[in-house]
Amino acid sequence: MKSIGIFDSGYGGLTILEQVRRRLPQYDYLYLGDNARAPYGTRSFDVVYEFTLQAVRRLIDMGCPLVILACNTASAKALRTIQQTFIAQERPDCRVLGVIRPTAEVVGTLSPSRHIGVIATEGTVRSESYDLEIRKLWPDAVVTGLAAPMWVSLVENGEYDRPGADYFVRDSIERLLALDPAIDTIILGCTHYPLLLHKIKQYTPAHIRLVPQGQYVAASLEDYLHRHTDMDARLSRGATCQFFTTESPTRFGEQASLFLGGNSIDVQRIQL
Ligand code: DGL
Repeated sequence: MKSIGIFDSGYGGLTILEQVRRRLPQYDYLYLGDNARAPYGTRSFDVVYEFTLQAVRRLIDMGCPLVILACNTASAKALRTIQQTFIAQERPDCRVLGVIRPTAEVVGTLSPSRHIGVIATEGTVRSESYDLEIRKLWPDAVVTGLAAPMWVSLVENGEYDRPGADYFVRDSIERLLALDPAIDTIILGCTHYPLLLHKIKQYTPAHIRLVPQGQYVAASLEDYLHRHTDMDARLSRGATCQFFTTESPTRFGEQASLFLGGNSIDVQRIQL
């Protein structure tokens, strides 16, 4: 079996997996969440790189010729180096893709004013990856980033639906809009955030467009596979999905079902 590997620091990548499977249900998927070491968002460049490389190696060893880093922090801090070193030197037959580029490609078409806000983890915001990628494609864009460190914790701890989350959601939206009141589009630049979407909508002025990434990553993957027929031909098509976590499989299964519309799943634990 040759699966598409989907990697995230924890549960967030499940929001990407769901959209990818909806669009491309025929392929086999292997999801890996490094829950034992999440969150990545506050970790240093070197540590995120090291952890992400371990995960990519493992997914490739498990039979994934194509790996998606369904984590903005890993995409921002590790993707380029992994492509240029590990893939280029050790596994030129494999490919690793991220989630920032597909989002940057589309956001200019969604924002008439080109004043774009990005809410993400501290690591993603500090890396300035969104600013760089967006301005490469949309040179007139004004990109303002804001780290919302509490948002991932609210999701990882199952608090995203509770009243306590409102304060942190409202506060971050208000702070972002105070930095640039002309923002008309906000990228939810962390794969955990779609779970907070209804609260984010509640505190965001109606004229502002919110951009969760899943559908754009899925469309971009479909386009990639159309353009790279060699890779496409190597992937197996059994419509399966296997789940792995570095933490407790029981807890992963319980939490993951919240992300996957209540469907229960089989999960195995692995060590990286
Ligand atoms: N889901 C990850 C992202 O998209 C971050 C969560 C974390 O901090 O580990 O950036």
